[in-house]
Amino acid sequence: MLSLYDLTVEQKTAPLGLDEKCPAFSWKLKSERQNVLQKSYRITVSDENGTVWDSGAVSSEQSSFVCYAGAPLKARTEYVWTVEVSDGTEAAGAESRFETGLLDGRAFEGYAEWITHPLPAEEAASPVFTKIFCVEKEVKRARLYATALGLYEAELNGEKLDDTFFAPGWTNYHKRLQYQSYPVALTHGVNELRFTLGKGWYCGKLGFDPQPNNYGDRAALLAMLCVDYADGSSDVIGTNETWQVSTGAIRFSELYDGETQDTTIPEKPLGMAIRYEHGFDTLIGQENEPVRCLMRLDAVKSFVTPRGEQVYDFGQNLTGWVEVRITGKPGQNLALHHAESLDENGNFYTGNLSFAKATDSYILNGEAQTLRPHFTFHGFRYLWVEGLEEGQEAVFTACHLSTDLRQTGSFACSNKLVNRLQQNIQWSQRDNYLDVPTDCPQRSERLGWTGDATAYSPTAAFNENILPFMKKWLLDLRSEQTPAIGMPQVVPNIMGVGQTGAAYWGDVATVLPWTLYQVYGDRRVLSDQFDSMKLWVDFITAQCGENGLWQTGFQYGDWLGLDAEMNALNEPRKGATEDYFAANACYLWSLQILSDTAKLLDRTEEEKKYRALRERVLAAFRAEYVTATGRLVCETQTAMVLALHLGLVEEKHRARLAAMLKTNIDAHKTHLVTGFIGTPYACLALSDNGMHELAGKLLLQEQNPSWLYEVKMGATTIWERWDSIMPDGRFNPANMNSLNHYAYGSIGNWLYTKLAGLELLEPGYKKFSVKPQFIRGIEWVKLRYDSVYGPIRVEWSCQSKTIRVEIEVPANTTARVTLPERDETVELGSGVYTWEYATETDLHQAKYSMEMPLRILMEHPIGKPMLQQYAPEMAENPMIQYVIDEPITALLSYAPQIQPLFEAIIGAMNAAEE
Ligand code: BGC
Repeated sequence: MLSLYDLTVEQKTAPLGLDEKCPAFSWKLKSERQNVLQKSYRITVSDENGTVWDSGAVSSEQSSFVCYAGAPLKARTEYVWTVEVSDGTEAAGAESRFETGLLDGRAFEGYAEWITHPLPAEEAASPVFTKIFCVEKEVKRARLYATALGLYEAELNGEKLDDTFFAPGWTNYHKRLQYQSYPVALTHGVNELRFTLGKGWYCGKLGFDPQPNNYGDRAALLAMLCVDYADGSSDVIGTNETWQVSTGAIRFSELYDGETQDTTIPEKPLGMAIRYEHGFDTLIGQENEPVRCLMRLDAVKSFVTPRGEQVYDFGQNLTGWVEVRITGKPGQNLALHHAESLDENGNFYTGNLSFAKATDSYILNGEAQTLRPHFTFHGFRYLWVEGLEEGQEAVFTACHLSTDLRQTGSFACSNKLVNRLQQNIQWSQRDNYLDVPTDCPQRSERLGWTGDATAYSPTAAFNENILPFMKKWLLDLRSEQTPAIGMPQVVPNIMGVGQTGAAYWGDVATVLPWTLYQVYGDRRVLSDQFDSMKLWVDFITAQCGENGLWQTGFQYGDWLGLDAEMNALNEPRKGATEDYFAANACYLWSLQILSDTAKLLDRTEEEKKYRALRERVLAAFRAEYVTATGRLVCETQTAMVLALHLGLVEEKHRARLAAMLKTNIDAHKTHLVTGFIGTPYACLALSDNGMHELAGKLLLQEQNPSWLYEVKMGATTIWERWDSIMPDGRFNPANMNSLNHYAYGSIGNWLYTKLAGLELLEPGYKKFSVKPQFIRGIEWVKLRYDSVYGPIRVEWSCQSKTIRVEIEVPANTTARVTLPERDETVELGSGVYTWEYATETDLHQAKYSMEMPLRILMEHPIGKPMLQQYAPEMAENPMIQYVIDEPITALLSYAPQIQPLFEAIIGAMNAAEE
């Protein structure tokens, strides 16, 4: 039977407070029949007076992002929408709803005023605004619309209004400020509305050198409660000078530093609210999903450190805060410090928090209390509690906060370390998606760094539905751009206008909209961002010299790449790849995306212009950076990866370049030394150029630097640096060293597209390819991705001489499947398909191999004694210390005769393992 499910408007289920004038409808088809394709759809939208739009029957396979095209929608109105679909054999229908918001922020005008408190601007305590009112008639519907300069939490009759945090979110407040819409259940009789405000991103401290008042110096509130009564009348209760102001328990609250609450002091009335001039022009309805507490974690252990700190370990590095349940003594002071790590001696380590104090403090009132902060968050795994009395009972629960995005992807395989890596990727994503995509959640930054988003977004879009979240951020990005700076380096831009756009960081302006369009198929993201893409590319063009290349100005380069000798450059954090090589490679990439976008949007003139420009820049790039025989003048891993991945050398030079990349990786003993720009594409470039097995070895590399090195060192999130914690267990002393940065999590994209083998061929995965590619050491893979058409599943295994592949193709899509070790490619419609066939391939990878460093053998309880017994002269030779970290294969070039002995020792080590 054909059925429809997952009806969404703007990717949200039955949203309330939608401000999109022509919202887009999506639905999914389900059927147990195979090869189901939608032939036609019909949408109707109605309000209580009848139909406002009937699309009529439309012959089309489109089942997502069909835009409303009826009479203008009315504000604050509930609509029911239906969709009927036929696949030529059967028909199906379904119904859902949505409710518009104010549609125009100026709707507050005349009903509510901006209000503030009488305290001086530098006052640290949180102001509380309250209004008591009476409801005497039967209420049909009540909605609250609210926003703040700062952050707010709203309560009705002593209960928090909903389960969301950090409203109104972070946007470019100068131009865009979100308001939220809430359904409200009023009590007959007396009601009290209460708003507590925090400084948040608006007037709290932000930046590496944290400064307050980035947008203004006063917290202020704007709210209106719209009540419709059963008798047809209505009331609006808006903020104005009749509201009361007080201060309560929250004495201090800053995003980086934490929150202080004194629960012993009574609420202090400050009189009436004061009118505040701010205007309504920047107001917009909430665009992305709200922040919620997604998980609660108990401490896995508590202990006292050598330094005497009482520490709780939650077993997971996370973003959020700690809730404490305790009955204290009146006036007892508790301080909760947060940190990501212990140091090498097991003491609480805060050395990587920069200026963030990350401490919440509570003065207890002697009763049983449950306390949590409101306007701060921390990045932590460990909690150090000061002020507990000997034997005093207290329960500490870590609350994991993140923008509540729908999880869309999952990946698992036969290697436990890789599975932990995948979990770490997903944790770092949630930890850094707190209303805006940030770099890190713990130190005094937590900013919307653009380069990190360029690197990570393709992986992110697999793990969660990031469309509304990123569309919001892109609108802020667009609003921050000027021809003079091209692109801000962080969005929202609190760094001011002094900094101009840098390559790769700025390229998020083209790469992200293109990625979103590909993954979800929502063309509007391209039309909305087209001018922004152009502005960025035109900015670069304006920087170019006579040779047509960008070779001036500040660049981050291959940030944190390991191939530059420390201090060899004036910026030791950059890899060796020449800044402008990378900048021009990215310029070419952006030009490509811009031309393709212009084509899609039928902007023929612009398409022609930017394609021609790309041709000229490509010629200049080759003249400058590629030798006549196809070598690069800058032969770093990142440079070669970019040239291969972005197609920057002539086809005839591709094989040569691929071989040089392999030589380089071999010379680094199968390690990457790439930074932010090279890492996301390294394994992709290898797999696409006949070196999938080498990509696999990089994935499974366990020595530093590598992804699994982090995992083996106990990482529970992705680190900022390959060696954030060094092999000797010491914390890398570099001043900038977070354990929760997602850029290197971009390997996720390779896991899904190359190892599992799922790649999109048409936007939204309307058509996709499945081409699993084996690597030694991984015997099975299971991937599931919830596309806008429904779940795609790819499962393969190669075990006991049998290859098994199972895939699920959702209705209304087509898959092109290439099975391992079989040459032909088949095209399949929707359905579930299984194949099973014989193979000679054995993917089992013994734990120890000739490629491991000699050290592992020398530290092994069987390995060392065997070497001592059969080759004592070698085992005891003091020269061995010079090759101890070399792979054993490398030693064979000095002494090929030792191969059989080493094979025997390694065989024995593996046998002991099994
Ligand atoms: C951030 C990065 C960011 C970088 C700019 C750092 O401080 O944490 O992730 O992209 O600055 O290079």
